[in-house]
Amino acid sequence: MHILLIGSGGREHALAWALSASPLVDRLSCAPGNPGMLELGEAAACDPADPDSVVAFARETAVDLVVPGPEAPLVAGLVDRLEAAGIRAFGPTAAAARLEGSKSFTRLLCAEAGIPCAAGQSFDAVDAAVAYIRAQSAPPVIKADGLAAGKGVTVAATMEEAVDAARAAFGGRFGAAGRCVVVEERMEGTEASLFAIADGTNVRMLADAQDYKRIGDGDKGPNTGGMGAVSPAPAMTDTLRAEVMERIVQPAVATMARRGTPFRGILYAGLMLTGAGPKLVEFNVRFGDPECQALLVRLRSDLVPGLVAALEGELDNFDLRFRPDPAVCVVMAAPGYPEAPETGSEIRGLAAAEQSEPDVHVFQASTARRDDRLVAAGGRVLGVTATGTDVAAARRAAYAGVAAIDWPEAVWRRDIAATA
Ligand code: AMP
Ligand code: GLY
Repeated sequence: MHILLIGSGGREHALAWALSASPLVDRLSCAPGNPGMLELGEAAACDPADPDSVVAFARETAVDLVVPGPEAPLVAGLVDRLEAAGIRAFGPTAAAARLEGSKSFTRLLCAEAGIPCAAGQSFDAVDAAVAYIRAQSAPPVIKADGLAAGKGVTVAATMEEAVDAARAAFGGRFGAAGRCVVVEERMEGTEASLFAIADGTNVRMLADAQDYKRIGDGDKGPNTGGMGAVSPAPAMTDTLRAEVMERIVQPAVATMARRGTPFRGILYAGLMLTGAGPKLVEFNVRFGDPECQALLVRLRSDLVPGLVAALEGELDNFDLRFRPDPAVCVVMAAPGYPEAPETGSEIRGLAAAEQSEPDVHVFQASTARRDDRLVAAGGRVLGVTATGTDVAAARRAAYAGVAAIDWPEAVWRRDIAATA
């Protein structure tokens, strides 16, 4: 098969690693890819932001399957365009990607499907939103409705902060994504993410993970795209997994199908494990980054037949198997991340890191080649990922990998999976 992988982050490097390991894949093209991905595949002559160029490339080079990594092309309808052109693509249509693209859409779906989530309401005018905020007994959570690159949510500490966040969103801080604002009760509990694969009708659990969103140790400082991950999520149990599938994931897939917008692809349920049971924080319509890195190193099965089974509506008699061994991913970021990452510093020692312990993988997220040097090219730069017989062993191996990387400017958290 010839697979075209869309994206250029750590998640996509992990996907490239898993896809290129499949005996079914004889050619892997990456649009645009990154230096790590381009060791496993080749650069595709197309622009993922321009669907016409993706269709043309797929036709000219006989692409059998397109795999978009990030949410933006899914929400923008890349899969619809490819399907209309007769090209197979793994991921939701734009209508199904609204599960990530619109938080108010997802609230309505939760109401219809009986999915437990935070109490709250959606608003398209600032005055009504402010009045509702002031009527709450505790400062609520304010969310821009649309995609805001992980910056659209304010977990307010005070009423005034909540009001300011709503005003800022309506004032254009997130562009069109903030034209509608969701106000929600603040839920208390432990967060975890569960990943499932759906074929429109059937849905199967893959695995779960915990993400570390803040920049600093002890969950201090600003939010980031994710500074590390551990899979499985330490707080999850088999009972909770079954409950999340039954009460959250299956009803979402069934309701999307009933509405005539079946969900095909990876469904990521962001969860709050509360005293009253698991509740949905958000759906995403793709793998998490860096959760994907910790998930895929645990995957025992060939990923490609799983993606094909999902496309063909055959997940009911299919199983993707994961190793029980946990995995830990530690993100190494450029100094100044998340506000203003400084790029250009040289990174060495990737091969040494991969040899520092068995089962260490260094996934590249934002790197570039300058002459024959590898340099930091963005905020989150590397995801050093390792498995082990238990979390402590996986953690030790991942941090041994980090220590072997020769990149003096790097910043990373020291406490990924520490309390697991
Ligand atoms: P989201 O982009 O919806 O995942 O929100 C980002 C983060 O905000 C989540 O991972 C939670 O930590 C937090 N969050 C979102 N909604 C709530 C809520 N209703 N209660 C408490 N925390 C929330
Ligand atoms: N790590 C969070 C996300 O991928 O959305």
